[in-house]
Amino acid sequence: MSQHLLLPLAILAISPIPGAFQDSALSPTQEEPEHLDCGRPEPSARIMGGSDSQPGTWPWQVSLHQGGGHICGGSLIAPSWVLSAAHCFVTNGTLEPAAEWSVVLGVHSQDGPLDGAHVRAVAAILVPDNYSGVERGADVALLRLASPARLGPAVRPVCLPRASHRFVHGTACWATGWGDVQEADPLPLPWVLQEVELRVLGEAACQCLYSRPGPFNLTFQLLPGMLCAGYPEGRRDTCQGDSGGPLVCKEGGRWFQAGITSFGFGCGRRNRPGVFTAVAPYEAWIREQVLGSEPGPAFPTQSPELQSGLPEPTDENCTIALPECGKAPRPGAWPWEAQVMVPGSRPCYGALVSESWILAPASCFPGRISSDLPPRDLDNWRVMLPSRPRAERVARLVPHENASWDDASNLALLQLRAPVNLSVAPRPVCLPHPEHYFLPGSRCRLARWGHTEPVPGAGSLLEAELLGVWWCHCLYGRQGESVPPPGEPPLALCPAYQEEEEAGRCWNYSHWSLLCREEGTWFLAGIRDLPSDCLRPRAFYPLQTHGPWISHVTRGAYLEDQLAWDWGPEGEETETQTCPPHTEHGACGLRPEPALTGGLWPWLAEVHVAGERVCTGILVAPGWVLAATHCILRLGSTTVPYIEVYLGRAGASPLPQSHQVSRLVMSIRLPRHLGLRPPLALLELSSRVEPSPSALPICLHPGGTPLGASCWVLGWKDPQDRVPVAAAVSILTPRLCHCLYQGILPPGTLCVLYAEGQEDRCEVTSAPPLLCQTEEGSWVLVGMAIRGSRELFAAIGPEETWISQTVGEAHFLPPSGFPHWLPEGGDLCPPDMARASGSPRAALFLLLLTLLIQG
Ligand code: ARG
Repeated sequence: MSQHLLLPLAILAISPIPGAFQDSALSPTQEEPEHLDCGRPEPSARIMGGSDSQPGTWPWQVSLHQGGGHICGGSLIAPSWVLSAAHCFVTNGTLEPAAEWSVVLGVHSQDGPLDGAHVRAVAAILVPDNYSGVERGADVALLRLASPARLGPAVRPVCLPRASHRFVHGTACWATGWGDVQEADPLPLPWVLQEVELRVLGEAACQCLYSRPGPFNLTFQLLPGMLCAGYPEGRRDTCQGDSGGPLVCKEGGRWFQAGITSFGFGCGRRNRPGVFTAVAPYEAWIREQVLGSEPGPAFPTQSPELQSGLPEPTDENCTIALPECGKAPRPGAWPWEAQVMVPGSRPCYGALVSESWILAPASCFPGRISSDLPPRDLDNWRVMLPSRPRAERVARLVPHENASWDDASNLALLQLRAPVNLSVAPRPVCLPHPEHYFLPGSRCRLARWGHTEPVPGAGSLLEAELLGVWWCHCLYGRQGESVPPPGEPPLALCPAYQEEEEAGRCWNYSHWSLLCREEGTWFLAGIRDLPSDCLRPRAFYPLQTHGPWISHVTRGAYLEDQLAWDWGPEGEETETQTCPPHTEHGACGLRPEPALTGGLWPWLAEVHVAGERVCTGILVAPGWVLAATHCILRLGSTTVPYIEVYLGRAGASPLPQSHQVSRLVMSIRLPRHLGLRPPLALLELSSRVEPSPSALPICLHPGGTPLGASCWVLGWKDPQDRVPVAAAVSILTPRLCHCLYQGILPPGTLCVLYAEGQEDRCEVTSAPPLLCQTEEGSWVLVGMAIRGSRELFAAIGPEETWISQTVGEAHFLPPSGFPHWLPEGGDLCPPDMARASGSPRAALFLLLLTLLIQG
């Protein structure tokens, strides 16, 4: 039973219908031969609006036990008969044996030993023949007790409605049970029977709500014999474990059972009222089953004037509920922004999540979260909320149990002494359910969170767009891990930013929360503290995993359904994806989905040398770019040129200046080579770049010729506009390469053969790289072009030691493929073939032919 404080009337979607709830006289129950009195509890006081019931208020409520524990509810309708729901007893189409069940009567709290006198064995369980599953209706069952219940103040039957009985739209009724208090949140000890007031919803009104796509984008068609009760705005409802229990309405001083708790979509969700089995249509069935048993259930007649109510709203004018959380007048003006003031520390930003609760990072309250005692100075804590003239006082601090050691759980909840009235402001932010799937491309914003230093600059810097789950997961997850499919909590949420920071703007020491918008409603999607450098945070801990904890503590935080389901063409893709191999330094060589970033190659760098030429560079670690020495350093020049590096540029392509990262080069490192000039140069950047779709290091190939990979020369068509192009190539075996270019190759040279028609896609003066994509999907750098050649590349593998020693975090993959370095001697090559012909392709053809014939 989920029971919440009444919401302000202004946002209640149903207003009381005058006259519908008045008691009126009932005709006496003369037709009942045994004069079984029904539906009258002992007079007693009840806490309205609360959730614990008073003992004796609902004397017909029973608890059905199986295997020693409560499974379902039920109601006593006659000394030997209990009414419940079929789905409690039918598993996989078969009825469970009656002997497994017992009926516990007259209990209030299920804590402690139950009074044996009020337990009855079940002699028979009866279910209608046409029952085939809750959602197909007829979810009703009768239990015949092995011996009649002893009636008394705590054990009395309820009245049953006749088939003609009408429970009109708007009637206030009560549901009772020991079920969960929220989704997946069991009733806490001492398990006191819960009660909740629910309004009957007419068929059309209910169907109208269920015709709106709700949780999981589902709709539902109600069937005859189903009855809805609840509220469009949700929040009060029955839940798991209440099934079989009664929905009762008072008429003429007697309580009639209008419904049997049957099912719902989640619990207490918006536009998803509880669905009950209507009891009235089962009058004949019940009478038939109990025939001959004395005394049987009582079916008092309804007074005729109660059979007609106000005209029920029809489909066209039905009232659906809109989200009550997450509405902001404009991005940045957050009506849930709460500033927590703790004596002796800077203000801490958090978010209002309900009438009475603030969510904030636990790290805002150091030294106050370790002990079980409340902080001694809690009396002096204050919370500032938007549009509230005075500061609120704090009643309680509830840190997350893992807050002190797990950054992803750096959360605390603060309860206000008095709930605030929710309106335009303050208004709570929406929280995602655990199964929420924030779609790639979602529009998000950064918002202040915790101790945040003001960041100078435009609001547009706070804008973000969510990246795909694969990229985000594989960047931060473990290698080979499968990527959580939509509906499973992600490891992280990765926003992409449209602009990169200008120099001098530092986001250091800032905590941020990530708000994402769906259908104009803002969700608190993620949190993140202390980025390691001056950049905006690149990954957020998803908040959705904490939804259950937050609703458990607050009993009423605004968890809202996913509102955007437009997954786009690729969205429905469900095949499980795994992450490509990582190196000990993390992920490398991941290329984000082209849709989001306009075909960026995240490791492709433009290296601008002395303002006069542009060389190709490849990001090999967060602060290092590899390039071809001959392009960077002109022969004969002795001075180190001024070099700038740009990442995330897509030339004149659709994304001109966005996603850009730029760095200066601080030093150029060359390996020690005897005699010859080394082909590869490492450029040390002025500062690291954090992994993003526009800047991610590539993996490095340790040597040998990659097997089973598809390989490409990545370059620019034109050195002026520098639109990246990739030309498909195959890497020749060492033997072929050696024979083809006999005598002219420096050691450690790779040769490639272009695919038909791809030879002149890339220009060569910028020294393009040779890369391959492994079968697992990651990209590997294999070589860099040798001066003036399209076909020859200086291999990375032979320089592994030097690169690893210079760049601590270089991503060398484990060795694979076959060894490249051939035994010396050209004697394996057929004489003269290689140089005999004009083009390498033709030469290769001849060469292959002779090698084959040689066997
Ligand atoms: N089927 C549930 C049970 O077995 C009852 C669910 C009622 N849910 C609801 N949202 N009204 O206990």
